[in-house]
Parts: sequence; C-alpha cells; structure tokens
Amino acid sequence: MKVLRILLLCLLSLPAYAQKFEGLALTPPMGWNSWNTFEVDVNEDLVREMADLMVSSGMRDAGYTYIVVDDGWEAMERDANGNLVADPKRFPGGMKALADYVHAKGLKFGIHNDAGTRTCNGFPGGRGHEYQDARLYASWGVDYLKYDWCNTGTADAQETYKTMRDALYAAGRPVVFSLCEWGNNKPWEWAKDIGHLWRTTGDITDCYNCQGEYDMGMRFVLELQKGLEKHAGPDHWNDPDMLEVGNPGLTLAESRSHFTLWSMLAAPLMAGNDLRIMSPEIRDILTNKAAIAVNQDALGKQAYLYMDHISKLIYVKELSEGQWAIAWHNSGDQAFKLRINWSHFKFLGEKTHKIYDVWADKKMGKTGKNIELDIASHDTLFLVLTP
Ligand code: GAL
Repeated sequence: MKVLRILLLCLLSLPAYAQKFEGLALTPPMGWNSWNTFEVDVNEDLVREMADLMVSSGMRDAGYTYIVVDDGWEAMERDANGNLVADPKRFPGGMKALADYVHAKGLKFGIHNDAGTRTCNGFPGGRGHEYQDARLYASWGVDYLKYDWCNTGTADAQETYKTMRDALYAAGRPVVFSLCEWGNNKPWEWAKDIGHLWRTTGDITDCYNCQGEYDMGMRFVLELQKGLEKHAGPDHWNDPDMLEVGNPGLTLAESRSHFTLWSMLAAPLMAGNDLRIMSPEIRDILTNKAAIAVNQDALGKQAYLYMDHISKLIYVKELSEGQWAIAWHNSGDQAFKLRINWSHFKFLGEKTHKIYDVWADKKMGKTGKNIELDIASHDTLFLVLTP
C-alpha cells in the first residue's frame, strides 16, 4: 500500500510533458515573416535589416513582436550528428547570433520548419528528429516555430503535431507553436491543446480576387473563414495566413480592407511586406492603434459574418468592456451607398453607443441617428462602438 502511495506521489509530481506552453499568445501573435515577399531568398543581413526597420518604423512599439524566418534558411543537409544547420553562405553567423541580434532589439525570434521529411522547398524537415530539433531551437533562442506540412506522406496530422508540441515542451524554452497544415485536417477541431495558432487555408497571395493552384487572393481566404469563429480564443487562433498589406498586388483600399478584416477576425497579424520600401500610408495602416486594439482585444473573440448581401459583407466583433467593432466591406466592383440603421443591430441593446471611425480617425456622434455614406469598391468602413 505504502509503495503504491509513493509511486502515485512520484507520478503526480512528474512534470506534464504532453502539453503546449501555457500563457503564450493570449492575444493574436503579431510580427513580420519573410515568406510573402522574399520566399526562400533570405539571409542574415536581410533579417537584421528587417529587425532594425521594425523598430525604426514604429512597428515594434505598435505591438509587432516576432520576426520569423520562413523556408530557405537551412543548408540542404543535416550535419554529421543529424543537427539542422543554417545555410553557411546566407547565414554565416548562424541562427544563435541572429536570434541574439533580434532579442537585443526587443523583438522575438521565429523560425520555419516542416513536419515532413523535407520542407516545401526541399530543405531538411523535422520528421524523426523532433526532440533533437526542439533542443537545438531552444539553444538558439527560438521563440516561435511555424511548422509546415509538406512531404508528410500518410502521417497523421494530430499525432505528428503532438510529437513536436511535446518535443518543444520537453526542451523547456517557451515557444509559440504555429501549425501550418493549410486546414486540410480541420485543425480548428483538434489543435487547441497542440498549438497556439493553425492555418485554416492554403497560401494567400497579394491580390484581391485571384485564385491559383496553390494560392488565392484575400477575398477567397476570407470566404473560407465563415463559421470558424467559435474555435478561436486566447492562445488558440485561427490563422487565415499572413498579411499581404503593402505588397504590390493590392491597392491601398485593399490593403486597408485586408488589415481591417484580419483585425476583426482576431487573426495573427504577421506583416509580410518589404519594410525597406514601405510607404507612409502602409505604415499608417499597419500601425493603426485602434485597428490593432480591436485585433488584440483581451476577450479574444473572432468576428462573425453578420450579413453577406450581394457585395456587402458585414462583420461584427464583440470587444471587452461592452464595446463592439463593425466592418462594412464592399467586395464588388462598384462603390455602394451604405445606409446604417442602428436599430437593425439588435446586439447593441437599448443603449446608445459613441461611434469612432477607425480609418478616418474621427468621432461620428452616437448611434440612434442613421448614417449614409459611400464605400468605394474593395474598401471597408471600420467602426468601433462604445456604450
Ligand atoms: C507553405 C506555407 C507558406 C510558406 C511555404 C514555405 O506550405 O503555407 O506559408 O511557409 O510553405 O515553403
């Protein structure tokens, strides 16, 4: 009996390894990732420059924390001990030095790898090396891991991502774990205890309405988020992919809409533009305080599609302290006249609310009085209501 009791006590006092890191990503992660502009064309000078620009542009102070090096950082083969190595030509100083540089800027460091044998671009993947890789990442000071799904054969997604989660936890350094299996296996149904965010779709690209074999414009990505809102919350977010804000294929109105809608969806805000050529208008979008506050609201609710009528999409996001955010998006090719009759928005109850227009940075009086205005093609009206 005594032996049994001691055994039980020992078991109970063992650290629980089968879990993700708690207390991370309580609001959607924000940062910059190399993929949407640079694809595999990455090197340490570029990453350093982006880290510098995240600070000097005001992005860090606006909340962008993680700088993530996506696919392309590795040498083509592991070393003799089976360790991953950074490409010696493009990352001669190695990943530890780069992480140190990023940390010294008050930012956090992230990296990309893959759950399969190789990444989508043929670099070594993590399959069979999970614990070894997790220890290496911890020794480099990695704070964020985006884990892709190429070359995984018949592997089970849940089991595979659980293995890496456990490996990261065992390595002991808190890491935000970003699952990137493109929504193939409905991760919103099972990944809450495995990762902090999971991709819900294939890749986004910098256009509004286009669709390729492997990627699609923001309008298509948006469409695929319908109904997923119930699965998101603090430390477990739907990820409709990284931002194309400021990239050449979007107009300014489309960039503004993209940022509005991703803010409303409580999506991770991972910028993906070339910060060296960022215009003041794009910087103003990416660092807009009110938009970011909607995205980062502590309640952690993802907006739902309140109405979808012809080309008028209305999204509603409940915020803390009785506030609401509402976005009217024009997905059509023509401007439309919007008439807001506040009595239709029953969730506002009997109270009047003060209205703030995020993009015009202007107070618009109170609900009660109907509003009429025009919304240009692909643009969005973004209002925050305060009781
Ligand atoms: C894709 C992923 C992209 C990018 C790319 C790198 O699977 O969705 O965001 O990481 O791999 O090869």
